[in-house]
Amino acid sequence: MVLAAVLLVIVVSYVDSDDYCYNEPHCDPYAWGDTFPSCHPLLEEHHSPINLDHPITRNESLGSLHLEGFDVIQTGHWTLRNDGHSVVLQVGNGMSVSGGGLPDVYHTIQLHFHWGGPATNGSEHTMDRRRYPMEMHVVNMKSIHPNMSAALDDPTGLAVLGFFIDVVYADNVQFGHVSQKLSSVAYKGQTAKVKPFPLMSLLPKHNMSQYYRYYGSLTTPPCSPVVVWTLYEVPVYISWSQLAQFTSQIFSTEEDAEQVTPLQNNFRHIHPTFSRVVSGSKEAKLLRGMASCPLRSAVAVHLLQIILLAGFISGQ
Ligand SMILES: *[C@@H]1O[C@H](CO)[C@@H](O)[C@H](O)[C@H]1NC(C)=O
Ligand SMILES: *[C@@H]1O[C@H](CO)[C@@H](O)[C@H](O)[C@H]1NC(C)=O
Ligand SMILES: *[C@@H]1O[C@H](CO)[C@@H](O)[C@H](O)[C@H]1NC(C)=O
Ligand SMILES: *[C@@H]1O[C@H](CO)[C@@H](O)[C@H](O)[C@H]1NC(C)=O
Ligand SMILES: [Zn+2]
Repeated sequence: MVLAAVLLVIVVSYVDSDDYCYNEPHCDPYAWGDTFPSCHPLLEEHHSPINLDHPITRNESLGSLHLEGFDVIQTGHWTLRNDGHSVVLQVGNGMSVSGGGLPDVYHTIQLHFHWGGPATNGSEHTMDRRRYPMEMHVVNMKSIHPNMSAALDDPTGLAVLGFFIDVVYADNVQFGHVSQKLSSVAYKGQTAKVKPFPLMSLLPKHNMSQYYRYYGSLTTPPCSPVVVWTLYEVPVYISWSQLAQFTSQIFSTEEDAEQVTPLQNNFRHIHPTFSRVVSGSKEAKLLRGMASCPLRSAVAVHLLQIILLAGFISGQ
């Protein structure tokens, strides 16, 4: 009887092949290839995420993307959902992206997030090895395809726009459209209606011409190598408390689960670029270590103040 129960559990967990995880040994990103062949490490040369290593070569023909419908309020309602791996905002049918070197028009389907834990950062891509606190992905499907399985058979079937999310002291009011609804989708399977808002209000709208381009994969199973990646250089800023709503109030388990597991560190490991080209857009700044420069000069100013203060005190 016990044996039968154990066997049943094994069979059920085997049959439930749609499932994967981030933080347990048998279903973490390194094990995804056991269940999803195209996540296998041997196929790594097409994979995402990657580290963006400066200096990056500029491609003068990469101008701003055309984001159709991003600055208007769409009709109907949007749906926020906890799928056990992320929080996903389904955004209806009114938006599309094109231009900026994309080979076609792509319909916007959904956006979702990757994050770390209370003390760790969780962006998927890194910039000069720096991992940002979070990353947002706006997923778009090539408009010629009737469904996702057709898009996953096309080497450029998807275009994903990636945005780093960094943390400041002030709340990002626009980001509240999403973060205020998070408590309604704390557990896997829960959904909440979201009133449509202009998606552009979530994005770094003054810096949309500054991005990086490379060809890679989905960062979640089935890891299909079909993604034209556009990674924006300038992050979106949210507050520490908005970040904490992701890192400590979302669970990968259902509400009635015996053991409740926080959904944390839902990012895939970095993959080598090998011979792939990463290009900078025409207006990308491309400065090495740009992100850490202001910090370094701030530290220098503090040191100077301490030295001056020490001199002042000892002079008394
Ligand atoms: C620059 O971008 C254009 C548009 O995507 C592309 O056709 C071209 O091959 C790129 N050039 C290089 C050198 O990567
Ligand atoms: C994590 O993010 C913080 C805030 O942006 C940054 O100061 C820190 O350097 C990052 N840590 C790593 C290991 O990249
Ligand atoms: C997806 O579209 C393709 C191409 O038109 C079609 O052959 C296939 O049956 C569709 N699959 C599903 C699951 O609807
Ligand atoms: C963002 O764009 C503004 C306006 O073009 C520019 O002045 C600023 O330097 C850009 N920010 C960064 C970090 O590149
Ligand atoms: Zn993603």
